[in-house]
Amino acid sequence: MQNDLDQILIDPGRIAQRVAEVAREIASPALSPQDRPSRGLTIIPVLTGSVVFLADLIRHLPIYLRLEMVSVSSYPGVHTTPGKLRILTDLDTLDLAGRDVLLVDDILDSGQTLCQLAKRILPRQPASLRTCVLLRKNRDTPPAITVDHACFDVPDVFVVGYGLDYNGYYRNLPCIATLRPEAISRHAQ
Ligand code: IMP
Ligand code: MG
Repeated sequence: MQNDLDQILIDPGRIAQRVAEVAREIASPALSPQDRPSRGLTIIPVLTGSVVFLADLIRHLPIYLRLEMVSVSSYPGVHTTPGKLRILTDLDTLDLAGRDVLLVDDILDSGQTLCQLAKRILPRQPASLRTCVLLRKNRDTPPAITVDHACFDVPDVFVVGYGLDYNGYYRNLPCIATLRPEAISRHAQ
C-alpha cells in the first residue's frame, strides 16, 4: 500500500498535534457563554470518512458528549458530484432540540455535504450548530458552507488516508497523501 503513494502531504505527527489543538478550540472555555456547550455536545460524524479523525478528536475532548452517526451516499472515484448527494440516515429521529451540535466530516470540498446536512439539522432547532473538518480544500470556487473548525488546508488535489478513501481503500493510512496514477487505475471501479 505504501508504494501506491505519490506525495505525503501531512505526516502522522502533524495530524496528532493539530487534532489536539482543534479539540482544545472546540472545548475552549474562552467561547462566549452562548456558544459554550452547557449540556455537552452532540457530535454528528459523517460516515465513513470521518471515523479515524473522530476517534482521535473525541479523546481530546474532556467534556460531556454524545455521538449520533449519519450516513451519506459516497461519490465513487476521484471526482465529487455534489448533485448526487443522498442522506441515508433519518435525521428526523434524532433528538437535537436545544442541543449544541457539532457536525464532523473528513474534508470540505464543494461544501455540499455539510451544507445539505446543516439544512436538515437546523429545523430540528439545536441550540447551536457548528462544523468541523480535518481538511479544507483550496478550490477556485468558494464552498457552499464556511466551517467553524478546520485542521488543515490542502491543495485542490485528490487525497487519501486517515479515514479518506479512494473507492473504499486507503482509509487506514496514518498520513494524508496523494496516489500514484498506477494506483488510481488499479482501484478504479
Ligand atoms: P463536498 O460535499 O464536495 O464538500 O465533499 C465532501 C465529501 O467528498 C467528503 O466527505 C469526502 O467523502 C469526499 N471527498 C472530497 N474530496 C476528497 C478527496 O480528496 N479524497 C477523498 N474523499 C474526498
Ligand atoms: Mg465523506
